[in-house]
Formats: sequence, structure tokens, C-alpha cells
Amino acid sequence: MSRVPNVTSVPQEIAEAIVLPGGYGDMEGVVFPACDWLRANAPIAQVEVEGHDRVWLISKHQHNKEILRDAATFLSEPNNHFLTTTAGDDYLRSILGGTTKVIDNLTPMDGEDHRGHRAAQAEAFSIEAIRKYEPRFRELATKSVDRFLAAGGECDAVATLAQNFPLEVVMEMISVPESDFALMHKMTQETFGGDDPDIVSESDADMSPETLARLWQESAQYFYDYFEDMRVERLRCPIDDLSSAIVNGRMPDGELMSPLRQNHMLSSIALAGHDTVSSAIAGGIHGLATHPDQLALARQDPSLIPGLVDEALRWSIPAKHFMRTAGRDVDFHGQQIKAGDRIMCLFVSANRDEDVFPDPYRFDITRKPNPQLSFSFGPHICLGLHVTKIEMKALYAELVSRITSLELAGEPRLKLGNFVTGLKTLPVRYTPA
Ligand code: HEM
Repeated sequence: MSRVPNVTSVPQEIAEAIVLPGGYGDMEGVVFPACDWLRANAPIAQVEVEGHDRVWLISKHQHNKEILRDAATFLSEPNNHFLTTTAGDDYLRSILGGTTKVIDNLTPMDGEDHRGHRAAQAEAFSIEAIRKYEPRFRELATKSVDRFLAAGGECDAVATLAQNFPLEVVMEMISVPESDFALMHKMTQETFGGDDPDIVSESDADMSPETLARLWQESAQYFYDYFEDMRVERLRCPIDDLSSAIVNGRMPDGELMSPLRQNHMLSSIALAGHDTVSSAIAGGIHGLATHPDQLALARQDPSLIPGLVDEALRWSIPAKHFMRTAGRDVDFHGQQIKAGDRIMCLFVSANRDEDVFPDPYRFDITRKPNPQLSFSFGPHICLGLHVTKIEMKALYAELVSRITSLELAGEPRLKLGNFVTGLKTLPVRYTPA
């Protein structure tokens, strides 16, 4: 296979470790060392890996913040918000009328369009609005930890705990009936799991770029179809839930969002609000299992639970990157980024930046401050961050109060993929309190 030489002096294996999905099955052996190399040697580097668009890799925490903050220069449109193959993007453009926008939610919007649509939903996601769900999050957390403890001292913490709890939380918030939870889980896994042969459902999936793009588009259509009846119903007859607040949200000019966007906002909550949180929760359990002193600390002092949540988010990095496109030529710390260049904001690297996080490979729930970048930064910062933090707090408070020890009981396995990924299995052994 012929190789495209790198544009800057980044060794090809480093560029491939970051861009290709396979390395994400071995974060410690492949992806983190590549990020360490980039931060030390080429923190703003343009690379090209065969089959993929040429991209700038941004590996330092500070540089990522600068790019993410400047949404007028570094745009979310018109390219895909995650890095996939050029052929996959071309296929999407061919079936979507020239765009890669499979879901027309906040993520690919810029400028006034983004500000207006985000404002329509800001109240529904405010900390005050989310706090009212907190008692229910605690009940669900108790039920989930009951199930975990019923395993009798040893189990897969992903299957018994990390996976179900956030699914139940977000589905209840938008009033999806329990009978559909399993379907929602499967749809989410398939949407984000396209690069992992254990997850895609097509038997003999040829895994060609076009197949992967088609699967992504089909999953999104599935979500669309599922939520269309709900959208119409919530408009006609709103109830006291998040789906009604989203659908009925008004932009600053007083207008409702278009029906398509109402639907896509709903679909994307189901999609964004589950797998990411599941990865974060599992990542934190992994951190505790591999750093027993931290479990002891959290048990001694429950005021450290919010620190545990932040450290779990830093540790797990559920979204490994997000993309931007330069809207104009710009000199960025001496590197000449041209209009149209694609930029990969590497949260996966920023969260291990030694200039910001002393001893970055140590799981430390007492870090203060802990400016983890897992939720991104700037105008597109995750709208669901209060939901996430409040539900994770509920779960970890329950968990740490009910176990006295936690350790790995086998080798954890990670999903393959360079975008939203995390632990696929996490065998643990624990002692109930
Ligand atoms: C650990 C959990 C989560 C992580 C790591 C995460 C990560 C992210 C990231 C990185 C972005 C920003 C993308 C960008 O800069 O372009 C984002 C945006 C978003 N997230 Fe989350 N998310 C999580 C949970 C949630 C939840 C629970 C919800 C909803 C219930 C949610 C809803 C959204 C929405 C609506 C946006 C779009 C914001 C915008 O573009 O203005 N997320 N999320």
C-alpha cells in the first residue's frame, strides 16, 4: 500500500495512531504515547493518512481551548464533525445533497444559526432545570448499584452498571417507555460503533468506508423515525419532561425551530446523552479499580465526589476528538492554517497535557482545578454537562458508599474507533460494604 508522506515532520506511525480507529483499542500502548510525542515535538502539526483528509492535529490543552473558543474563525461547518474516511464523507455528500450533515442538530451549526438554536434549548439544560431530576437520578443510582452488588463480588462493570444507568436516566428524561430502552441502546451502539466489528450488526460487514457511512446514515434515520411521533405529540400536548422542553423551545426571535431540527435535537439527545456518559462512568470505575487509595479517599470524604466526577471525565475522554474547519487563513502560533483546512481538536491529548495536569497518568480525585476538556470548550461546550455531572455524582456517591474494595478481575477491553469510544468490558472484583 503506498503511503502519503506527512506534511510536517510527524512520523507516519504517530499520525496513523491518532487518525485510524484500530489504535484506540490500546490507548496506553498506542494513542497516549502518540499524543505525548505530538505535545512534545509537534503540537500543531498537519498530517495526512491514506484514505483520510489532510488534518491539523492540535494536541496541547491551551491550543485546543483557543481554537474551540474562536468559533468565528474555526467553524463547525461545512465538514463532518468527526474524522472519518474521505470516501465515507464523499458517499454521505452523494446521498445528502452535498453535505455530510447526517443530523442537523447544534453540532454542525455556526454563528447566529447556532446561537439562536442553542438559546432555544439553554433553559431546558440549565442547572436549575436539571436539579429537579436529581431525586430520580438517586433512585435510579440505587437500583443500578443494587444490580451491580447482586452480581456477588465479581462482574463486568460495563454490562452491569455503566451501560444501563445513563440509558435509564436519559430515556426517562425524554419519556421513552422502558420497553424501548434496549432498542435505543442498540441504535446508539451501532451509530458510534461503526469501526468496531464486535458492534456493527451487519454480518459479514465489509466495513468499507461507504458501508460505514451508510450504517451511520441508517442509524440516524432510525432515530428520526422513532422520534417523529414523539415530536408531534409533545408539540400538541407538552408534558413536564425534557423532550417537551426541547421541542417547544423558542429562539430569540420567538420562533419555534423547524420540524426537522426539532426532531434532530431530540434524536441527538438520545444519541449524545447515553454512550458518552456510559464511557465516563466506566472510565471512573476503572480509575478507582486501578488506584485503590482514591476509592478510600472518596469513601472517607464524600465532598470529594464532584472531584471524582471531573477526574472520571478527564480519565475516560468519551469523545476523543471533534473537528473544526478554518474559515479563513490564520497564523496560529507560527503555523499557517489555510481557509478550508480541517482541524482535529484532540481532547484525548489535551486531557493528558502535563503542563495543565501534573502527573497526568495518575487518577487523582483531588485535582484542583481540573479543567478537563471532555465536554469541549467555547460556544459549543456540551449542553448536557449538568445532566452528566449530576447523574454521575448520584451514581458514584451510591457506589463508593456501598463497596470497600475494588480491583480489576481481568483485562478491560476498549471499543475501536477514533471518535466516541470507551470501555467495552471492565471485569472487576469488589467487596460490598
Ligand atoms: C460524559 C458525557 C458527555 C460528553 C463527554 C459529551 C461531550 C460533548 C462534546 C465534546 C461536545 C462538543 C462538541 C463540539 O465542540 O463541537 C458536546 C456537545 C453536545 N452535547 Fe454532550 N457530552 C456528554 C453528555 C451529554 C448529554 C448527557 C447530553 C444531553 C442529555 C449532551 C448533549 C449535547 C448537545 C446537545 C451538544 C451540542 C452543543 C452545541 O453544539 O452547542 N451531551 N458534548
